Amino acid sequence: MMPRVAVIPGDGVGPEIVEAVVPVLEMVADALGIPIELRFYEAGDGTKARMGRALPEETFQGVLKADATLMVAIGETAREVILPLRQRLDLYANLRPAKSYPLPKAVPGFDLTIVRENTEDLYVMSGWSNQDAAVDLRVISRRGSERICRFGYNYARKMGKSRVYVVHKANVLEGCRLFRKVCSEVAAEEGFEYREMYVDSAAMRIALDRPFDVIITTNMFGDILSDLAAAFIGGLGMYPSANLGEGRAIFEPVHGTAPELAGRNLANPMATILSASMMLDWLGYSEGAKLMEEAVRRTCERGLTTPDVGGTLGTREVGLRVSEMIGSILRERS
Ligand code: IPM
Ligand code: MG
Repeated sequence: MMPRVAVIPGDGVGPEIVEAVVPVLEMVADALGIPIELRFYEAGDGTKARMGRALPEETFQGVLKADATLMVAIGETAREVILPLRQRLDLYANLRPAKSYPLPKAVPGFDLTIVRENTEDLYVMSGWSNQDAAVDLRVISRRGSERICRFGYNYARKMGKSRVYVVHKANVLEGCRLFRKVCSEVAAEEGFEYREMYVDSAAMRIALDRPFDVIITTNMFGDILSDLAAAFIGGLGMYPSANLGEGRAIFEPVHGTAPELAGRNLANPMATILSASMMLDWLGYSEGAKLMEEAVRRTCERGLTTPDVGGTLGTREVGLRVSEMIGSILRERS
């Protein structure tokens, strides 16, 4: 069966990144005989302006029917697109591997994966407000905590990573006390030493000495810590992610629409290339995934990058250089 991939370019730098990345994906697919079929859908600010809805039903159905989705950047309407997709598809795990590639602005050897719960916490988007006060509901459930924690330990096992920390604020928050309790039970069941850290302290330790390989945490803390982690790998332009549920997945760069770069051929396509690599791996094409990642590594090593990570090339040119690198890796092997 031919896996179907829904592609959502979105707003801002999204479309130009898609133009640079799709040929890279197609090249890997052709070279390795991976039979993927791409279908394009729209969503985001531009879509809302034209059609009155940021996430049209056709796009939602396309994502629902696809085997995987690659989504690039959604602007002001992110709350109407990304968050409902995560909720409606029950994509409970947000996997964010922050790994450094050879770049002048990246800390060598930085390799920290944030496993972020993706459906609960302050993101249930329920609250009240009046002129004088606003309340956001923070929901942490046993089921939500259990499944993200299990996901995190299974991921760590698969990747051969042992320094797994559960990050919370159980000294203050009721929900974090439940999260901590459930995670410590899951750690024992999964045969991991239970290690934990308060989120404020974890932020400092990310910057200082990084005693962890994997951080398992709640939704909002994961959102904040992942942008912090990005600072050590050269910025958001290098940071891929996967929103994963049971048999469903949306892959997206952690960065947003970068309006100041839009239309200028300046945006870094690497985060999306790495997201596409994670997608191939999830679809069962690990060889294709590794090939893409290796091409990114070599392209970075040669400084063939966009200005945000120290290079002088444009979005399109970086895409072309990565494709060329894939070609040369394949020739080396044959
Ligand atoms: C992210 C983003 C989103 C989030 C926004 C755009 C809704 O910051 O994916 O990290 O808060 O989850
Ligand atoms: Mg974020």
